[in-house]
Order: sequence, then structure tokens, then C-alpha cells
Amino acid sequence: MPLSNSENRLAIDGGDPVRTAPLPWELPGAHWIGEEERELVDRVVRAQSPFRFYGPDPQHMVETLEREWCAAYGHGNALAVSSGTAALSIALSALEVGPGDEVLVAGYMWVSCLSAIVRAGAIPRLVDIDDTFCMDPADLERKINARSRAILLVHMSGAPGRVAEIAEIARSRGVRLIEDCAQAAGASQNGTPVGRFGDIATFSFQLNKNMTAGDGGMVVSDDDGLFRRIVALHDLGYARNDQGRLDTSDETCQLWGVGARMSDLAGAMALAQSRKLARITGAMRRSKWRIREALCDISQIRLRTIPDPDGDSGPFLIMSFADKDLCSRFMTALKAEGIQGPKGSLSCLPMSDWGLHWYFNVPSLTRKRSNSHDGFPWSHPANAFAREISYDRGALPVCDDLHDRSALLTIASTLSNDDVDDIIRAFRKVANAYFQPL
Ligand SMILES: Cc1ncc(COP(=O)(O)O)c(C=O)c1O
Repeated sequence: MPLSNSENRLAIDGGDPVRTAPLPWELPGAHWIGEEERELVDRVVRAQSPFRFYGPDPQHMVETLEREWCAAYGHGNALAVSSGTAALSIALSALEVGPGDEVLVAGYMWVSCLSAIVRAGAIPRLVDIDDTFCMDPADLERKINARSRAILLVHMSGAPGRVAEIAEIARSRGVRLIEDCAQAAGASQNGTPVGRFGDIATFSFQLNKNMTAGDGGMVVSDDDGLFRRIVALHDLGYARNDQGRLDTSDETCQLWGVGARMSDLAGAMALAQSRKLARITGAMRRSKWRIREALCDISQIRLRTIPDPDGDSGPFLIMSFADKDLCSRFMTALKAEGIQGPKGSLSCLPMSDWGLHWYFNVPSLTRKRSNSHDGFPWSHPANAFAREISYDRGALPVCDDLHDRSALLTIASTLSNDDVDDIIRAFRKVANAYFQPL
């Protein structure tokens, strides 16, 4: 139905907004927390056994989660941990990454990726992104060098980019591949679940993720030797025996642990959520792709390239405009039409408001900060080469450009058909006003 004159006037110019009720919060898994989580958590509480390895009556929630995770996604081994950040540190230490090593990572990521590399004593080597908003294989080829020990490939904003090309580069150049699947649990590409392309993969179950235990994470690897190190590293540096007690006798596994075990309470939450993950991502994917299809004739809005739409886990719609000014004006007008979440949510924003996801917004990186008095790892003799590296804006031209003129809309996992219709109507209304003729 054509819009009347007053409906045509943008809300930002005094017209009626498309909607007044806020959209639901992002936080995909949180909306689905219910009886199943309560029942499993209750079992742990009733058994008075919240520790995974021993206690009066362990309920084996974490163990069950790990077993079901392997069965669902085809991983050889899975270990639940306390966070996605810890998972990354464990993965790097399992691969023995340290001073003198570079880890290649895209400039659009999350600060945890950088902190894990720096705390390992290694140096981040930034790689540009492409139209998938994930690592650009061509820039990766250019940046790999003799010091490259690992590639940290982040499946950003719910969907993998050119992952097969990157896995092939890693293989042919003899560099280890870690997949950071924190933002993409339940995603896949051409039928292969994320986490199955690399040597090790990590996940996060923090509140903003596709499934949540409040906090939590997972490390997966098909390599049994690596996995043995992963298990020891996430704990106190050693394996455990059949009674769940530390066993220091294995000389090949005497390490320094990071204390990142998952408790059985978190395990109960994560287990209930993992059983809902396909439904959560299915709901987001359906809403998102209905919106994408409804906008695809608007040539002035360039939607992020997603190589395999069926494997998209769906939590973010990312789009680019001709320039920064248009991006900012479009998003402000869209918000005025009521396309935003409740107070405190981050649901509709230009990428310039997306903080620590962009390399040049991370002061600890640009200023090469250290956690210790001696400036480690920047000051380590094996890292002397890092003096030449600048992490300031300007290091990655595509990141800088896309950051300025791109925006995102989070896709809640509980959007109704009416919500989706409103989002589409608002986009088209603003586009009609800004891009004459459509
Ligand atoms: C890409 C990425 N890696 C790692 C993490 C860290 O996960 P966590 O918050 O569970 O430590 C996050 C999320 O916060 C993330 O988005």
C-alpha cells in the first residue's frame, strides 16, 4: 500500500514513526532462558555439587554439554571453559605461541583476540577485511611471513567469510589456524560447522552470544595431543585422574594453568541453551534474510557479503552506504522511525559506535600497553621487530573505510512477523526519502 503524505514524512522531520514500541533486546539466547535451564540448574543445586570433577553427587552437566557438542557439530574433542577470552588464551598456549611469534588477526574483531595474543607474549599482525567483514585472504597472503605462527580467524557478527581459502592458505604455508567462533555458534559454511576448519576453535557463551550461560565458552580440537594440553591449560596445568584429582605424573603435561574451568552450574545453563541453539539461530536467520531480501533492490544500501546464507547464524544485519555522512543520517532516521531496542541495548548503530571491535579503538594496542612493569611483551628482545609496527588508524585501508560508512542492526531472536514488517517498512521509508528515485 502506498504511504500517505504524513506517513511519508520521516519521523526525524516530524512525521509519524513506523513504530513506537521498542524492538526486543539483542542477546539471542537470553530470551529463551526458561524451564529447561531452571530444571538443570535445580538438579545441580539439589545435588549440592556445582564442581564438575568431584563432589557428593556430581550431575555431569559440563561433561554432557561437551559430549552433545561433539555429537552435534562433529568435533573430535570439546572442553567447556569459563569464557571466550580464556578459550583464546588456552588455544594460543596449546600451540606454544610466545615471544618472537606473530599471530595474524583481522582489524575487525573483539579486543579479547588482541589481549590473548599479547598476554601470550606474541605480537598481533593486523590483516585487512573484505566485503564479508571477515579476514581478507589476499591481505593474509601478503602479511604472512617467517614469524607467523598462527592465524586467528574470527567469524564476525554471526557468519563466516572466505574461510575455505584461509584454511587452504594456513595449510599451504604451514601456519596454525585458530577459529574464533564466539559470535557464530551454530553457524556453518557449505554444510561444515564453524570450528571444523582449523586446528583449534573457540566459542563464547557470554550474554550477547547465540547461546548463553551468562559467561562461559568452549574449546574444540580434533588433535588429541593438542587437546590434552588444552585440558591441562584450562585447569591448573595438569591432567586429572579418574577421581577428578590432579595428576602431576605425566611429564609431557606439566604446564601453567589459567584456572578457567566451567562450573557445573554454568554447565547446566549452557547445556539447556545448547539444546535450543538451532532454534535460536534459525529464528534469527529467517528474520534477517526476510529483511535482506526486502532490501536487495535498494542499490544504495550494500549488504554484507555472506558466502553461504544457509550457514548464517543470523544475529546481525550489516550494511554499507556511499559515505560516512549518509550512513550516520540514515541510521539516525531509522532509529527515529522506532527501529531500536529498549534503553541500554545496542541494536541499531553506525560502526563508528562499535568501540573495541575495531583495531584503532583499542588503546592498549595502539599504545602498546603492558600488564607488567617491564613492558612485556613489546620489550622482549625476540619481539624487537614490533617496534616498526603501528596499530594506529591507517594500518588497514578497507577496515578504515568500512568502519566509517557501515552500520549494523541486531536481529533479535524473538522478532515477530510484525516486527520484521516494521523494520522493512522503516528501511524503505527512509530509503525513499534519501534515495530519490528508489
Ligand atoms: C569475537 C570474540 N572473541 C572473543 C570474545 C570473548 O568472549 P567472552 O566475553 O566470553 O570472554 C568475544 C565476546 O565477547 C567475541 O565477540
